[in-house]
Amino acid sequence: MAIHFNDSYLKGVIHEDEYKGLAPLVKTCHDALHQKTGLGNDFLGWVDLPVDYDKEEFARIKAAAKRINEQADVLIVLGIGGSYLGARAAIELLRSPFYNSLKKDTVDIYFAGNSVSATYLQELLSICEGKDLAVNCVSKSGTTTETALAFRIFKQLLEEKYGVEGAKSRIYCTTDKANGKLKELADENGYECFVIPDDVGGRFSVLTAVGLLPIAAAGCDLDAIMKGAADARKDFLEPDLEKNDCYKYAATRFALYQKQKKMEIMVSFEPCFATMAEWYKQLFGESEGKDNKGLYPSSVTFSTDLHSLGQFIQEGSRIMFETFMDIKKPKQDMYIKPDDSNFDGLNFLADQNMSVVNKTVMDATILAHSEGGVPCVVLEMPEINEYEMGYMIYFFEKACGISAYLLGVNPFNQPGVESYKTNMFALLGKPGYEDLQADLKAKLS
Ligand code: PA5
Repeated sequence: MAIHFNDSYLKGVIHEDEYKGLAPLVKTCHDALHQKTGLGNDFLGWVDLPVDYDKEEFARIKAAAKRINEQADVLIVLGIGGSYLGARAAIELLRSPFYNSLKKDTVDIYFAGNSVSATYLQELLSICEGKDLAVNCVSKSGTTTETALAFRIFKQLLEEKYGVEGAKSRIYCTTDKANGKLKELADENGYECFVIPDDVGGRFSVLTAVGLLPIAAAGCDLDAIMKGAADARKDFLEPDLEKNDCYKYAATRFALYQKQKKMEIMVSFEPCFATMAEWYKQLFGESEGKDNKGLYPSSVTFSTDLHSLGQFIQEGSRIMFETFMDIKKPKQDMYIKPDDSNFDGLNFLADQNMSVVNKTVMDATILAHSEGGVPCVVLEMPEINEYEMGYMIYFFEKACGISAYLLGVNPFNQPGVESYKTNMFALLGKPGYEDLQADLKAKLS
């Protein structure tokens, strides 16, 4: 298995009998997922997606990525939540958080449509001045306000720059196969379309065109990503808790939740993992957090955050556990040379690689936090590349599905997301919301 669950630091936290006692419940959740008898079973397309995907569309994604690189300097990817985070996370992990500033032969990629900040959009528009542009609008529903508003702006920009006809070959839509305003508009204008399958929800969609088109435009190897995910699918088909590291992780999260550890902190020691942690937060937060249940997913990058949240984790409220991503081989290393004057007193760190120091910081942190009463889960990953990332994405998706079933919630809906939308539409004066608007305005005054 390319991800190994290491429970060495959980001894004395979760007792063996207690853990083994979860095996039948895990098996029930496994059966519900694979026999499609559990909650939200209309949205299980991601389970077999790594082997059961549209190969013709997969080839079209690669061709479109090539065309985008020929026609544009900058690709603007519009989307929010599951229609945004996976692509960004993958590009930062595989290429770099500095991707746009790298010397490279692929387009710069900027993400928008994930807020309604005028400042953000104005700054992005000024970056686009004088550049050749392409736009990928990603929205399963085709109606998400943040994304639709940004699309309106970039569609107008492209039409002003290239004419209505010229803009058509630079706009790529990733949406439902048949429904929604975006699909309607794309069909009317002949924009190239990619499909988000009906049975794959937004936050489980990174291995569809949602993630794959921007990831391919950034020059990453889609075949290796899908191979990693397919191998993870095979490895984690095993129903026995003892033989399935993905299920061990899910069961451990559940056991810790039952011990009143209501928050999971995803920890990494590589800044390129930070947006992947944002993706994990959405995946688990939107899937588990309902019916007054669920672990609150949060994240830190160490050692950066050891100088901010480290104090709280060491000595604050004992509400959390940590999941350490132990990436065995960094993408790059650096040799620390000795300095004759030893002006900074750091010669004790010399003659070794920086990765050794980083690993030591991790070991020191795990020991300190365990001692401080924070259970530490460790997920070992050999290295960062396309294959390992595909494998890891599937690992977390499956762990999330099983975790939510263990809690007894539907992992695949998000009813709570509607509340702010309803209020927002009413307050913005959307037709049909007049009564609610009066109520809300009275409350605000
Ligand atoms: O996981 C989800 O379902 C959500 O995060 C959606 O992806 C997000 O709300 C965007 O929705 P849409 O793709 O319909 O614009």
